[in-house]
Amino acid sequence: MSIQSIRPENEGLNIFWDDGSSSCFPWLWIRDHSESKVDLHPDSKQRQIDVFSETPDNSINKAIIDQNKKNVMVKWVDQSESCISFDLLESLASTSSPSAQALANDSCWNSSHEIKEFPEMSFDDFMSDHGLKKWLGHIHRNGFVLVSGAPASSDTTQELMERMAYVRNSIFGGFSVWDNKLDNPDDTAFTSLAIEPHTDGTYVHDAPGLQTLHCLQKDSVGGESQLVDGLAIAEKMRVEYPDYFKILSSINIPGRYIKDGIYLEAKRPLIRVNDNNEVVQISFNNHDRAPFRLDNDLMSQFYEAYKVFHNLANDKSRQFQFILEPGKVLTFDNWRVLHARSSLTGYRQLCGGYHNREDFESKLRLI
Ligand SMILES: [Fe+2]
Repeated sequence: MSIQSIRPENEGLNIFWDDGSSSCFPWLWIRDHSESKVDLHPDSKQRQIDVFSETPDNSINKAIIDQNKKNVMVKWVDQSESCISFDLLESLASTSSPSAQALANDSCWNSSHEIKEFPEMSFDDFMSDHGLKKWLGHIHRNGFVLVSGAPASSDTTQELMERMAYVRNSIFGGFSVWDNKLDNPDDTAFTSLAIEPHTDGTYVHDAPGLQTLHCLQKDSVGGESQLVDGLAIAEKMRVEYPDYFKILSSINIPGRYIKDGIYLEAKRPLIRVNDNNEVVQISFNNHDRAPFRLDNDLMSQFYEAYKVFHNLANDKSRQFQFILEPGKVLTFDNWRVLHARSSLTGYRQLCGGYHNREDFESKLRLI
């Protein structure tokens, strides 16, 4: 779509597009969104124009199209100028409420057999020029990726993670190495016990976006890892259990983490949706669910809905099961894919950490 003509009107500047449609941008909006060097800092891209401290006089002298620079210029009677790029005008030609970015639901999987292109790549492939883009694409489409043939060292794993972005800090520290023989484990993750499908960080307001795990040493039996696509469960429930979908996308469920000197708690729906009712985030951790009580009828419905999600998540046929082993680095989308672990005997040492969600989205936008 390109600009065919413009026409100043009382309400604002009307832009006529070459497809026959038009968009009228209000004068105050044009002032506020001006991208001139004065109004938008050329380096930081931060807004400098302030349309609130003093009410601007939005009478205009003229509005012109600069075809060379692909800008629309508005000259105001107060001698100031606003400048807006064709790209910005085109990207906002239609109005819509900003809403949280939805998960990619065109590739969700109800079993590992439904994954079209299995998300595994070699370490050499990951380290190549286009490796990071491929790695991000796997996570975006399927919710996880395995990098095989990696050196079984914590340094290499940290370097792999930092190729995406800095490692996030959390209650467990930043990038960490741990084993299942701690005297006082802070979490079941640091034991040999089974853990049922869950997402991490239901007790923090901003749950970790990605999680990376690499088993550095393994002298154990059992301890299989399972991954389940929580988005696929949500989409199934949307169709087959619409009332339960509504309950799980509207009731805030508290999660908590309690240790000496620490009491974390956050609340959000199991299925978080945006204004378009698209799924944005799955938050499910039955182990960390905090006490709460609704009216008896609603509590009963909640239990029914939660049970359906829980049982679908624990359905073995929906799970991709594998063994974490030295050389195989797992990264998954903690806002989409649930992870679980069978109990184990013996010794194993793992390393890994978290990435923030916004850093993952940033790389996806730019790469
Ligand atoms: Fe976990």
